[in-house]
Amino acid sequence: MTSELRPRTAVVNAPLWGGRARDWADIQEGQCRSVYVAAFDRLRLSPGCEHLDAGCGAGMAAQLSAGRGASVRGLDASPNLLAIAQERVPSAAFLLGELEALPYADHTFDLVTGFNSFQYAGNPGIALSEAKRVAKPGGQVLIVTWGTPEGMEAASLIRVLGPLMPPPPPGAPGPFALSDEPALRAFAIGAGLEPLEVFDVPSPWHYADLSTALRGLLSSGVAARAAAHSGEDAVNAAHSRVLEPYRQPDGSYTIGASYRCLTARA
Ligand SMILES: C[S@@+](CC[C@H](N)C(=O)[O-])C[C@H]1O[C@@H](n2cnc3c(N)ncnc32)[C@H](O)[C@@H]1O
Repeated sequence: MTSELRPRTAVVNAPLWGGRARDWADIQEGQCRSVYVAAFDRLRLSPGCEHLDAGCGAGMAAQLSAGRGASVRGLDASPNLLAIAQERVPSAAFLLGELEALPYADHTFDLVTGFNSFQYAGNPGIALSEAKRVAKPGGQVLIVTWGTPEGMEAASLIRVLGPLMPPPPPGAPGPFALSDEPALRAFAIGAGLEPLEVFDVPSPWHYADLSTALRGLLSSGVAARAAAHSGEDAVNAAHSRVLEPYRQPDGSYTIGASYRCLTARA
């Protein structure tokens, strides 16, 4: 793993997403496992595919991709998350870097994926244009974002953090801005991609008990930002309130979540 980090959003996001990297890797990341599997099935990921996972976090998607025989590289802002990714996939090349300035040559990859990552770049449009630049012409780019909030139980866990955050800049897009299909397609077109298929993958979040749920939820960069502004207790209290109706008789929690995926041609 190399350690050059250019000073864009990555510098701000690294401590937010990596502050509780183990909790992210052990609890929260796996809530998306079925999304990685469904996406790789849909993309027909095959051995020998040159795959970049942009905003790879702790590397679960990279691990699944390597398991299917792809030649995987991963890039993320957080050294703590990358260290876990490298442990999990020793054969993959992970880089510390910035989504808006990918350190790869033009036309390098057959597949570039962004599992809930492009939207966290300071300028998501630039990040996606970078994904297109490093993809081979005709190669595939996958954008994954939140599913539509209507009917998604976990949307309330996301919304509850809004009042605990510093006020957003005027006109800043909300967390569900890309969940709208026309907006998601327009996002791809804006980066010079040809949008192909939109599909949703249900991926309910499950926690063995409340303390595990609170640790998992607090490990996201968004929750870390809310905690820095309003305090950890306020974030935990807000999460606990939302989770209460989802408590199962055995003390575990299951809350419905869904992700929206767009495949596009570079
Ligand atoms: C929601 S997490 C998703 C991580 C991983 N793809 C997953 O599915 O678990 C967002 C990731 O984007 C990374 N990230 C955010 N802004 C970034 C930036 N500007 N440059 C590089 N990585 C960034 C964070 O460090 C974090 O790992």
